[in-house]
Amino acid sequence: MSIRPAALKREASAAAAGATVRSVIAGCGSYLPERIMTNHDLAKMVDTSDEWIVERTGIRHRHIAAEGENTSHLAVKASERALAAAGMKADVVDLIVLATATPDETFPATATRVQERLGIVRGAAFDVQAVCSGFIYALAVADNFLRLGQADTALVIGAETFSRILDWKDRSTCVLFGDGAGAVVLKAGQGRGLPTDRGVLTTKLHSDGRQHDLLYATGGVSSTRTAGVVRMDGPKVFKHAVERLAEVVEESLAGAGLTSADVDWVVPHQANRRIIDGVGKKLGLPAERVVVTVDHHANTSAASVPLALTEAVGDGRIQRDEVVVMEAMGGGFTWGAAVVRM
Ligand code: ACO
Repeated sequence: MSIRPAALKREASAAAAGATVRSVIAGCGSYLPERIMTNHDLAKMVDTSDEWIVERTGIRHRHIAAEGENTSHLAVKASERALAAAGMKADVVDLIVLATATPDETFPATATRVQERLGIVRGAAFDVQAVCSGFIYALAVADNFLRLGQADTALVIGAETFSRILDWKDRSTCVLFGDGAGAVVLKAGQGRGLPTDRGVLTTKLHSDGRQHDLLYATGGVSSTRTAGVVRMDGPKVFKHAVERLAEVVEESLAGAGLTSADVDWVVPHQANRRIIDGVGKKLGLPAERVVVTVDHHANTSAASVPLALTEAVGDGRIQRDEVVVMEAMGGGFTWGAAVVRM
């Protein structure tokens, strides 16, 4: 693989200065489809109630993509907003890593659609698939590219139209999910030494294929030639989620040489209010430092973490230089966490 001259120059000067190259979040953005579906709307479709959904999940409403509005459309809008927040033009981007379980097409990657619509004609664009953990996986991949000098500026996107793979007759799953997209611009910068610099401090990823049957889609190109629909053993997923997420947050903080006392904000995957609270409690984190959007976004899979991050940066809660932990878990199982100094 050829390394571009700017990246080589940066690597050389970083090495000369004895500095660490870090991936700094230069801006973030998000997009939600216009249509809002409330719990009351769902109660007209399946045997459920607003009371049950709020009590068991914390969800009040979710956004649903319009007919003809695909994952790439949501991703492009979130990316444009992230670039605007970073004060950058699209042509500086030389890497797009897009996390989705609901791509526009079986191939090519939805990331290449985004690349084309943003007018980017260089670098690499590809998708990663880790379902609800997708954004953490994509962030880890892009961070490694930047730290190795193989790219300078990455768009890391989580975008989903999960409504397209829901069984709208299955009340145990269809009430849980929504559509949306979030993106961050990741820029290679030079740190001055661990662990006080801005940027991604650590990422930790895990998977365990033995848990496949607890959360999966019933179809796939090579097995059924259809996308299938979501199936889940909710209570078992719930138990695994609280345990694995607490573990991986502790592991990632240890990797950054930090403890939970150093954390300013937790931006968790927004699957269920009770999972979010359970993880926070296990880690002894104050509830007011945990960003919660599940009430108005529901579970948007790979989009949930960057959607929540963008909301908390946008309303001024998350400030520059603060330590943010992002965590997520999803089908596979996959799970992971990232520690970032903003
Ligand atoms: N409305 C009304 N009743 C319902 C609904 C509904 N939408 N869904 C299920 N029920 C019923 C069940 O049929 C069951 O009835 P029964 O007792 O007569 O059999 C009863 O409610 C209790 O069902 P449980 O599944 O035991 O309810 P639980 O309290 O575990 O809540 C839930 C279910 C919300 C799915 C929970 O287990 C959960 O959130 N699990 C985590 C799963 C998750 O968020 N996955 C997302 C992807 S993975 C991730 O992101 C971490």
